[in-house]
Amino acid sequence: MKALILVGGFGTRLRPLTLTLPKPLVEFGNKPMILHQIEALAEAGVTDVVLAVNYRPEIMEGRLAEFAEKFGINITFSIETEPLGTAGPLKLAEKVLRKDDSPFFVLNSDVICDFPFKDLAAFHKAHGDEGTIVVTKVEEPSKYGVVVHKKNHPSRIDRFVEKPVEFVGNRINAGLYLLNTSVLDRIELRPTSIEQETFPALVVDNQLHSFDLEGYWMDVGQPKDFLTGTCLYLSSLTKQGSKLLTPASEPYVYGGNVLIDPSAKIGKNCRIGPNVTIGPNVVIGDGVRLQRCVLLSASKVRDHAWIKSTIVGWNSTVGRWARLENVTVLGDDVTIGDEIYVNGGSVLPHKTIKANVDVPAIIM
Ligand code: GDD
Ligand code: MG
Repeated sequence: MKALILVGGFGTRLRPLTLTLPKPLVEFGNKPMILHQIEALAEAGVTDVVLAVNYRPEIMEGRLAEFAEKFGINITFSIETEPLGTAGPLKLAEKVLRKDDSPFFVLNSDVICDFPFKDLAAFHKAHGDEGTIVVTKVEEPSKYGVVVHKKNHPSRIDRFVEKPVEFVGNRINAGLYLLNTSVLDRIELRPTSIEQETFPALVVDNQLHSFDLEGYWMDVGQPKDFLTGTCLYLSSLTKQGSKLLTPASEPYVYGGNVLIDPSAKIGKNCRIGPNVTIGPNVVIGDGVRLQRCVLLSASKVRDHAWIKSTIVGWNSTVGRWARLENVTVLGDDVTIGDEIYVNGGSVLPHKTIKANVDVPAIIM
């Protein structure tokens, strides 16, 4: 089977992290975001993955060659000279997607869940129509694509409304599709939106179905959602009894859902958790309190720092008795001085912060 991952866009909503790495390579749960997807695709029997990009492929190429080798699959880049939206890239990659008659998966690169690719394939085959989109329920549907069903059919879609202004329903497009190759006949090679153009056309012909997602789902393309998604992912690992998690029997683990890379060093009398990920080569001092936060590789947290709802970027240092909270995000190589307070700060790479940030702000 084949898959195309939409990796365009500049990831501006995930700045300052995306000033250093393309969004798909930012580590989520100590693993590049896109690797969660590639692993699940390989597991479901996908052999060919196309990455549709219009942003810094040179950095991606090296890492992706590594993943291709690891999973024994082909990964190719399809590079747009102008952004082709969410449907145009499918047409651009037509050759790979039509290499056989089997349907192909399409993924938005910033969504995270327990990817149900095998069940999705079985469901798609059973209904026999051209397309299936995975849907999930959310409380605030206005920033997503919303699906409305036919009255007398459990899965056939009657309307697809992208970013509805008025409430039409709460089952939204999770950004995962399985499409027959015939859908490519409906797409022109130009900037075009699958949500605005292709899906409505499929709906008119009664060719689009929905598949309900089980478990958690999140679009992790912005810091607040990245943190929420991390909590959901860690809870799911806990539920599965995953061995990846740091055992609750460790004296510093508090409240569970803690994922610590084996190479990280933890000081004395720390309290870590719930919902914390600590990347490779991170060094934590003594008496540190961490909750609901992400520490990326090679960052340092000095003694007695207190960190909550924060992403600490690669190689950054948080000073002694510092306090970070309220969706603070530190870019690469940031230094937070001793005893500094940061409330919702977004700090650009290589900055040193010597004064308190009392109200949410971008520090450049
Ligand atoms: N290759 C390529 N070229 N990819 C693109 C382009 C482009 O020009 N524009 C956007 N993408 C990619 C993004 O990188 C992302 O992976 C995906 O297409 C969707 O774009 P977003 O910008 O993240 O869209 P969204 O989050 O506002 O909405 C989409 O996702 C929601 C679920 O998270 C829509 O598909 C909604 O219907 C959906 O509910
Ligand atoms: Mg998105």
